[in-house]
Amino acid sequence: MERALSLEFLAVVEQAAIAAARTMGLGDGHKADDVAVQAMRHEMDNVRMDGTIVIGEGERDAAPMLYIGEKVGIAARDKNGLYPAVDIAVDPLEGTNLCATGAPNSITVLAASEKGGLLHAPDLYMEKIVVGPSCKGAIDLDAPVADNLRAIAKRLDRGLEDLVVIVLDRPRHEKLIAEIRATGARIRLIGDGDLSAGIAATVVGTGVHAVMGTGGAPEGVLTAAALRCLNGQILARLVVTKPEHHERLAKMGIKDPKRIYDTEDLAPGKRIIFACTGVTEGSLLRGVRFFGEGTRTQSLILTLDERQVRFIDTVHLEKRPDVKVRFS
Ligand code: FBP
Repeated sequence: MERALSLEFLAVVEQAAIAAARTMGLGDGHKADDVAVQAMRHEMDNVRMDGTIVIGEGERDAAPMLYIGEKVGIAARDKNGLYPAVDIAVDPLEGTNLCATGAPNSITVLAASEKGGLLHAPDLYMEKIVVGPSCKGAIDLDAPVADNLRAIAKRLDRGLEDLVVIVLDRPRHEKLIAEIRATGARIRLIGDGDLSAGIAATVVGTGVHAVMGTGGAPEGVLTAAALRCLNGQILARLVVTKPEHHERLAKMGIKDPKRIYDTEDLAPGKRIIFACTGVTEGSLLRGVRFFGEGTRTQSLILTLDERQVRFIDTVHLEKRPDVKVRFS
């Protein structure tokens, strides 16, 4: 599945990124998200799979496209062909506001696995800690912040003051931020995008050592899919505060609302593909660049079974006879 589908998924995230990037800085997050969804949905029809959206834009009545349960891929129109059954999680534009304001690190994202390989998470908040391979097994979601940071510093063989932790800049994180600051560790506050932050924390050399705090549960599952391929770790727990949250969990078959999920609980698949493309410039990926004769995108494709991490630089040329390719 991975070898055959990964390049097809590449086209899906690339086309969504190109569409979203055209709206960069227009100040219209809805439009940015909308065009990314449409481009992703359109391109997905060409993928040779029998796909089902398990994490998408929401319930069917709330989302016209890429809704949970929607069938996607060629199998939806070719009933006679034989195509692999694939569960799909998407975030067509992670960091809508980042794109709308031209801020860094917005990306288009898709993860795929065999049936049942991605947790069907409701669109609630999730408490999360994300670390890279060296710190796997050293963190505990219920431990004091200082204990987790000391454990991370020890595994990375550096002082607390040499750690950089990414936290979403939200009022709900006031206490967390104070506790991190009290240890001496440094913080990078971000406006949005704890998914791309989680990937950065798992890749050595990005200068990010952990992500802490509460963000979206769908982003948590997508982070886990990437981390399965990158050998990182995410620990997470849903934030369930209202009776309606319990109803939504029950609908999705989640019995224990207090469960702490490890990476493999969020993305248990044996065959996972993770694909993302930069929309605006970022710490891991370049944003989409438009030039006279084409468009250039940078993407990351991860495959679990094949153990491949591919940074893919694509030049999409205009269909003109006199078109020229430039080196960089
Ligand atoms: P979008 O993809 O909807 O733009 O979400 C961006 C994001 O910042 C996520 O990265 C994060 O998990 C979540 O929103 C946090 O939610 P909130 O903005 O409600 O704090």
